[in-house]
Amino acid sequence: MRVLVIGSGGREHALCWKLAASPLLTKLWCAPGNPGTAAHAENVPIGALDIAALVAFATAHQVDLVVPGPEAPLVAGIADAMEAAGIACCGPSAAAARLEGSKSFTHEICEAAGIPAALWERFDDAEAAREFVRRRGAPIVVKADGLAAGKGVVVAASEAEAEAAIADFMETGSLGEAGRTVVIEECLLGEEVSVFALCDGTTAIPLGSAQDHKRAGDGDTGPNTGGMGAYSPPSALSPGLEAAVMERIIRPALAEMARRGSPFRGILFAGLMLTEDGPKLIEFNVRFGDPECQVILPRLIDDLLPALQAAVDGELANISLRFRPDAALAVVVAARGYPGAYRRHTPIGGVAAASAVPGAVVFHAGTDMRDGQLVSSGGRVLSVVGTAAGLQAAHDAAYAAVDKLNWPDGFCRRDIGWRGLGKGSHAAQV
Ligand code: AMP
Ligand code: GLY
Repeated sequence: MRVLVIGSGGREHALCWKLAASPLLTKLWCAPGNPGTAAHAENVPIGALDIAALVAFATAHQVDLVVPGPEAPLVAGIADAMEAAGIACCGPSAAAARLEGSKSFTHEICEAAGIPAALWERFDDAEAAREFVRRRGAPIVVKADGLAAGKGVVVAASEAEAEAAIADFMETGSLGEAGRTVVIEECLLGEEVSVFALCDGTTAIPLGSAQDHKRAGDGDTGPNTGGMGAYSPPSALSPGLEAAVMERIIRPALAEMARRGSPFRGILFAGLMLTEDGPKLIEFNVRFGDPECQVILPRLIDDLLPALQAAVDGELANISLRFRPDAALAVVVAARGYPGAYRRHTPIGGVAAASAVPGAVVFHAGTDMRDGQLVSSGGRVLSVVGTAAGLQAAHDAAYAAVDKLNWPDGFCRRDIGWRGLGKGSHAAQV
């Protein structure tokens, strides 16, 4: 099979790494890719959002399957455009990608399908939003309705903080159109986990689970990021609980999307809070998580490629995916300053030494090659993954590999996996 992966992050490197191991693969491209994907795929210099050029490339090169990594091309309709050109694409249509593109749409689906989620209300008017916050009190969560690259959520500890977020999103317009409408939610308490399912429109099969670490600093402090590390399987999610998530959250959402005439094909990502009253949905995403993908795929025993094809063909009922009992843990190494301002194009050394640590794999995210030297090119730069029998051993392998890196401009959290390891975070111990 001739396959085109779209994107350039650590998730896409992990996808290329896994797909490259498939005996069914005859040719792999990645657009635009990064120096890590170049080891498994031919990188194609087309941006992930240049849909017309991607369709033209896939047509000209007789691509059998397109695998989009990030949400932006899906929300922009890449699956529809590929389908119109007769090319199989393992991702949802723009209509189905609204599950990620609009928070209020997701809430409507949850209500219609009886999916447990936070109580919520949608506001176009800032004064009405403030009034609601005063009535409900803090803690309370203010969210931009549209896509805001992880910057659109404020978990407000006080009413003043919530009102500041309302003013910022709705009146100052700091997020542009994405924040002109907000969703205000009840604040859910518990442990957060991510559950993934591969879907073919009617059938959903489990595609692993993980726990992300969204804050930039040790002890879950500092600003929210795209994810600073993850581990799989998450210790808080028993197999029974995972099955309950499939039955009560994933499958009802799939049925409701099909009922509305926009069946969901591709990877459905449920961000959940494990509350005292059971798992509740925080958000759906319409793609693999990053860095969750990097800890799930190393545990996947079976070939991913036929499963992705079966998702497109509506034949997932015949497929099940097996995972190793091993644990995998990813440490994201980011540019100092991330998620705020940071420098680019600083030289990175030691990747080969890190990759040579037993049980470790280094996935590239924001890297580039300049005059034969690996340099940084983004905020989250590398995902260093350890896979081993047991979470402690996976943690030790990942950090042993991190310590082989030579990148003075980088930083990472030192406490990835702390909940699963039962240690308490570093900051919590201080
Ligand atoms: P989201 O972009 O929707 O994933 O939200 C980012 C983060 O905000 C989540 O990972 C949670 O940690 C937190 N969050 C979002 N919604 C809620 C909620 N209703 N209650 C508590 N925390 C939330
Ligand atoms: N790590 C969270 C995400 O991919 O959205």
